[in-house]
Amino acid sequence: MANESLSRAKEAKNDEFYTQYPDIEKEINAYLEYNPDVFRGKTVLLPCDDPEWSNFTKFFAQNFETFGLKKLISTSYAPESKKYKFGYQPSLFETEAPHYDADKSKTHGKIFVLDHDVTGDGRINVEDLQWQYLEGDGDFRSPEICALRDQADIIITNPPFSLFRQFLLWILEANKQFVVIGNKNCVTYKEVFPLIKENKLWSGRREWSGGMWFETKNNEDVDEVIDGVNMKNVPSIWLTNIDHGRRHQPLSLMTMGDNLKFSRHKEIKGKSAYEHYDNYDAIEVPFTDAIPSDYDGAMGVPISFLDKYCPEQFEILGITKTWFGIANKIYPNQIQVDKNGNKSNVTKLNDGATIKHSTPPIGETYYIVGDNFYTQLYARVLIRKKQ
Ligand SMILES: C[S@@+](CC[C@H](N)C(=O)[O-])C[C@H]1O[C@@H](n2cnc3c(N)ncnc32)[C@H](O)[C@@H]1O
Repeated sequence: MANESLSRAKEAKNDEFYTQYPDIEKEINAYLEYNPDVFRGKTVLLPCDDPEWSNFTKFFAQNFETFGLKKLISTSYAPESKKYKFGYQPSLFETEAPHYDADKSKTHGKIFVLDHDVTGDGRINVEDLQWQYLEGDGDFRSPEICALRDQADIIITNPPFSLFRQFLLWILEANKQFVVIGNKNCVTYKEVFPLIKENKLWSGRREWSGGMWFETKNNEDVDEVIDGVNMKNVPSIWLTNIDHGRRHQPLSLMTMGDNLKFSRHKEIKGKSAYEHYDNYDAIEVPFTDAIPSDYDGAMGVPISFLDKYCPEQFEILGITKTWFGIANKIYPNQIQVDKNGNKSNVTKLNDGATIKHSTPPIGETYYIVGDNFYTQLYARVLIRKKQ
């Protein structure tokens, strides 16, 4: 119970990561490079934001005219509704406004709208943003924000991590274009993976390695202080259904023969063949750069392959772990033998791709079923080369 509330508190704090301007700029520029009119005449909604100082609002408001936007709407969540309270202070921008309301400031969300030149300087930019308190707290699931979603063409944000699945379903049920940030692991979720497989959702432009740096409001969980700002590195990725160029760049790969002779990975180099799974008809490819260019059958590759996935080069057949019913074998109960030789009865072997061994493997956890020995692999995406 104590552990449960600790992890809920951690999740809540993880909802308060704020995205850096250069990260937003680089990501959005990739969609514009691919299609300069991607935002032209469009209404863009930035929900789960903090418009007064969010870099999303700033970036899109500054580029309103360059992108040819029709309307920009961003909304924030009421400070008192946030699960993690970090000492809220209204900004001067808010307190100096004639319609400032000290109570609503804490309990209501805000909406910022940009769609015409308010200042009369002949330009539409940040200066023309107009704001109001929302009727409610700005929860993205509220009827008020759902109505804004329905009038938007494109939804862009870094949503609360603890509600990522719900947030994505909320966008998809309204059939909108989107660019959002999520945790790397989210690609394996049962709500997300089938969409990746069907090419309805894919990785954004930013490469996955290195994680992303966010400003954090949680003073106890800081990786670095940069220019006086608390920063946290999170294994995050962009996910989208808007096209960009990197997605169509095929991987440059070696043949199977060359991999076995020259691979930079000791797990491949010098072997006579790639290992084959026992519970699915596919070879094991432990590194994306070791995918053989000339193999026509199914291959299991690390999840990080999705960062490099080019739909013209490969098709996605499924995923181990979740499987979605495609494993060709169900193992009865197993004896797990850990690295120290400790034995326990488990039912874990069906949760992943397995390799069968003729003798007990040394130095790794393995499983015994009858007279057979197995090891289990991390989650794998199952792919096949496009003909
Ligand atoms: C990860 S932060 C990102 C903020 C901002 N989009 C950015 O990237 O700079 C997610 C924000 O969503 C807010 N939030 C949490 N639950 C929410 C909900 N149910 N509806 C709307 N916003 C929510 C959090 O308080 C937080 O401000």
